[in-house]
Amino acid sequence: MRVVVTRRIADSALQKIMSRYEVVLYDSDYPPTREWLESNIRGADGVLCMLTDRFDSELLEKAERLKVLSSMSVGLDHVDLDAATRRGIYVTYTPDVLTDATADLTWALLLAAARRVCEADRFVRGGLWKVAWAPNLLLGSDVYGKTLGIIGMGRIGYAVAKRATGFGMQILYHQRHRIPEEKERAVNARYVALEELLSTSDYVTIHLPLTEQTKGLINEKRLRLMKPTSYLINTSRGAIVDEKALIKALKEGWIKGAALDVYEKEPLPEDSPLLKLDNLVLTPHIGSATTETRNKMAEIAAENLIAVLTGALPRYLANTDVVRVRPLVS
Ligand code: GLV
Repeated sequence: MRVVVTRRIADSALQKIMSRYEVVLYDSDYPPTREWLESNIRGADGVLCMLTDRFDSELLEKAERLKVLSSMSVGLDHVDLDAATRRGIYVTYTPDVLTDATADLTWALLLAAARRVCEADRFVRGGLWKVAWAPNLLLGSDVYGKTLGIIGMGRIGYAVAKRATGFGMQILYHQRHRIPEEKERAVNARYVALEELLSTSDYVTIHLPLTEQTKGLINEKRLRLMKPTSYLINTSRGAIVDEKALIKALKEGWIKGAALDVYEKEPLPEDSPLLKLDNLVLTPHIGSATTETRNKMAEIAAENLIAVLTGALPRYLANTDVVRVRPLVS
């Protein structure tokens, strides 16, 4: 069987696949072109891909032999799941393993925005530090004891909440369903409507998947509900926030600051107005980017792929209906 791996990944994971299958590796840190994907997907039984590789229905139509599309990511907005299911392609992903790393980065961004860490770094490096200590230099906002609003209380949202208990925070959360009461109690969280969350939180953090329902959810109207002293943090998907509206909010002071790891367009275009804003912390989509986590993600992506190709149910299957379209055969 032939397996396409669309990026250079951890050696141990790659070896696992290479010892079993013929591998076509896109041996780079950069993504392959659409043409490369189109020509290599044709003869592939399995593909291990990244979140920047777009598998829409048109591309999946060319996948005549494909049995498994294993994405090394928790998000799957880059894959047309319905099209994959119709074609009997098992789509797998890598949740859980990246929960803590992503929650840690969310906290790094929250603290960096609140305490102006990146501005302070630029200040020192820029040779602007001329007075040893000044009562009004780079004043930020308190974090301890404040209110944190979590939009999306899934695995990552809840891990962010757990960390907030160490900061004595009240937690408000919003998503479609309430979580069990004992889980709410464990992190001092209260289920509220989105409007209440936005209008009362000091820090708002987003942990939702990107879907038709969540696209543009944080729009101008909702940003205007936030307090002028509040901050927005996004480590989920850029398109959940209306970037144009956020730029206006940051420029006009509807909110005090923001920190983003994800953007409507990635990489961020060189002429993006976001780059000009000082009350904004920017990181380049590195939520899960620790050596330990990325190695584990690669391992799990390899294991998911091998499971399907050997006729076993993979640990993390996204389109569970596919088992009816094409039952596994070992
Ligand atoms: C990262 O954004 C992921 O989906 O894994």
